Amino acid sequence: MGDDEAVMAEALEGLERRVLRALAQQGDSDLEVIGSGEISPVLRMRAGGKDYAVKRLPIFSSDAALEAYVESFRAYQAALARAGVPSVSSRIIVATRQGGRPVAYCVQPLLDPTALCVERLRRMQVTPARRFGEQLFDIIASVVSDRLGLDAQLSNWFVRSEAEGRFELGYLDLTTPLMRDDVGREALDTELFLASLPAALRPLVRRFMLRDILANYYDLRSVLRDLLGNLIKESLEAHLDGWLGLANARVTPALSMSEVRSHYAEDARTWALLQRLRRVDRGWQRYVRRRPYGFLLPDSIERRVD
Ligand SMILES: Nc1ncnc2c1ncn2[C@@H]1O[C@H](COP(=O)(O)OP(=O)(O)OP(=O)(O)O)[C@@H](O)[C@H]1O
Ligand SMILES: [Mg+2]
Repeated sequence: MGDDEAVMAEALEGLERRVLRALAQQGDSDLEVIGSGEISPVLRMRAGGKDYAVKRLPIFSSDAALEAYVESFRAYQAALARAGVPSVSSRIIVATRQGGRPVAYCVQPLLDPTALCVERLRRMQVTPARRFGEQLFDIIASVVSDRLGLDAQLSNWFVRSEAEGRFELGYLDLTTPLMRDDVGREALDTELFLASLPAALRPLVRRFMLRDILANYYDLRSVLRDLLGNLIKESLEAHLDGWLGLANARVTPALSMSEVRSHYAEDARTWALLQRLRRVDRGWQRYVRRRPYGFLLPDSIERRVD
């Protein structure tokens, strides 16, 4: 093990101890949450004088399961790179074991807030925002296919470099590899995603929701609809009108504002319901079964629905 690796291993072990404390108690006050998605929070970690953004993955059932995951994680980044989308440099590192089961984290260098696309757009006037949107949508359109999926929400993109109004964009949300083989089989073990849901809910989601949830990421129209709807969540509605026009230059049938809004509202309701059910499950595990709950929950994601 090199020095860097030893330092990283120690930092992750320390973080995992804090995560376990947070899971045993309530809340995650000991942890510095820098971003909150629907599945798991992104935490800040310091190691060797540098800052990292890390995400704790669901606990893997075996080393083989972890290796399969790492393979799909790498394959996804390679496929994105081939399609012209560089990713932030990311590693999967095992922090510890629970029994024989590896507890792993996705580790990325912490990006400067000013590099995040959400923050960029917040500071843009309508005209540069249009140019920016144009470039973003071109990239998305060139990536998304039946074989390669993308969660293209603005919060998943960052600016690698910028010169004379040309942006080189990078992608950061890599822990759910969205790739299919030629017979339409997902590269990702979808059970891993389901593991974060209450056990009673899994068969239902597996049977009735998973296919549709995943299908949305492989279809340009749905991907852009989702991106547009999310501008509402990010309080970036000022750009919704302009970006809807950009999207409609790339998809048929055209998206209407009411479709974008109603989809966003429906999506927000679905995720809010899932989060509520996960919190109920957590209460059940903690207070009735008297055992720590296995996942950090994004406790209060703001959702704007009107
Ligand atoms: N490397 C990073 N540097 C700085 N901020 C980051 C980094 N990675 C993530 N973030 C912040 O955390 C937010 C959520 O990250 P990300 O999209 O990876 O997770 P997520 O949406 O919670 O994913 P999922 O719900 O699919 O697990 C980002 O939008 C960003 O604000
Ligand atoms: Mg994300």
